[in-house]
Amino acid sequence: MASQSLFFLHVLAIFSLTSLAFSASLSPYYYYRICPKALPTIKRVVEDAVRQERRMGASLLRLHFHDCFVNGCDASILLDQTATIDSEKTALANNNSARGFEVIDRIKSEVDKACGRPIVSCADILAVAARDSVVALGGPSWRVPLGRRDSTTASRAQANNDIPSPFMDLPSLINNFKNQGLNQKDLVALSGGHTLGFAQCFTFRDRIYNDTKNIDSNFARQRQSSCPRSGGDSNRAPLDPTPAFFDSKYFSNLVAKKGLLRSDQALFSGGQTGNLVNTYSANRWIFSKDFANSMIKMGNIKPLTGSRGQIRVNCRKVN
Ligand code: HEM
Repeated sequence: MASQSLFFLHVLAIFSLTSLAFSASLSPYYYYRICPKALPTIKRVVEDAVRQERRMGASLLRLHFHDCFVNGCDASILLDQTATIDSEKTALANNNSARGFEVIDRIKSEVDKACGRPIVSCADILAVAARDSVVALGGPSWRVPLGRRDSTTASRAQANNDIPSPFMDLPSLINNFKNQGLNQKDLVALSGGHTLGFAQCFTFRDRIYNDTKNIDSNFARQRQSSCPRSGGDSNRAPLDPTPAFFDSKYFSNLVAKKGLLRSDQALFSGGQTGNLVNTYSANRWIFSKDFANSMIKMGNIKPLTGSRGQIRVNCRKVN
C-alpha cells in the first residue's frame, strides 16, 4: 500500500514538473538555446532602421501596442487583407497611420536566415523591436519575456473597438486599459510612449480649436498654424517637444497644459492620475522604471503559447 502511494506521488511529481516545463508563461530565455542569434539580429536591424529615420523607433513601439490591445500580442496587426483575413491595418487607428511593416519584414527575413529556419514568431519580433527602439532612442531597457506564437486570424472590428481613441476622457481611458488587465499606473506610464513620434492634424484639431480649459493658449495658436480648421488633415506635429528622444518632457508638457491629444491632457486635468504625471515629470528614472514594467505587462496580454497559433513564415500571411 505504502509503495503504491509512493509510486502515485512520484508520478504526480513528474507530471507537475512536465507541465511546469510546458507551462503557458513566457520566458526571456526562450530563444537562448534554440537560436542565440535571434535577439542580436533583431537589435541590429532596428538600430539600422532608427539610424536611417529616428521616427521609425516610435512607429515600431506603437505597432506592438496596437498588436497587444487587439486580442492579445499575437501579431494579428501584421496580417494583410485576404478573402478570409479581416485586416486590422485599415482599422480607424491604423489606416494611413500605423507604419514600420517593411522593417518587421526585414527583421523576419534576417532572423529566419540567422536561425536557419522560421522559429521566431512575428509577435515576439514586435515585442523585441519595441524594446530595442526605446533603447535606441535613449530610453530604458528590459528583458522581454518570449515564446509568443502568431495568430491565424485578425479582426478589424475588434481593433476599432479596443484601440483607444485620442478623443477619450480619463474615465474612458481608465476603462479601456482595465479591459486589458492594465491599471491606472500602466495607463499613465505607457502613455509616456508619446515622448516619441508624431500625430496628424485630424487627431488633435478639436483640442487646439475647441478646448478652452487645460490648454496653453500660445501652444494652441502655435499648433493651429500648421493644422487649419479644415484641410491639412495629415499635417504632423510632434507629440512632445523632443519626439526623437525618450525623456520625461511628455509629462512636463502635460503639467504646462501643452498635451497634444485630448487623451494626453486628460491624464493631467484635475483627475486621479495627476499625481503620477507630476512624479514622472519631475523624475525621469521613476518614469523609465515604471514604463519598462508596464511594457512587460502589456506584452503579456493573452499570448498564444503551446500548440495554439503558429510561427508564421511570412508575417503578413497565415501559413
Ligand atoms: C492611452 C491611449 C492612447 C491613445 C488615445 C493614443 C493615440 C495616438 C494617436 C492618435 C497617435 C497619432 C497617430 C497619427 O496621427 O497617425 C499616436 C501616436 C503614437 N502613439 Fe499612441 N495612443 C495611446 C497610447 C499609446 C501607448 C500605450 C503607446 C506605447 C507604449 C503609444 C505610442 C505611440 C507612439 C510612439 C506614437 C507615434 C508614432 C509615430 O510617430 O509613428 N501610444 N497615439
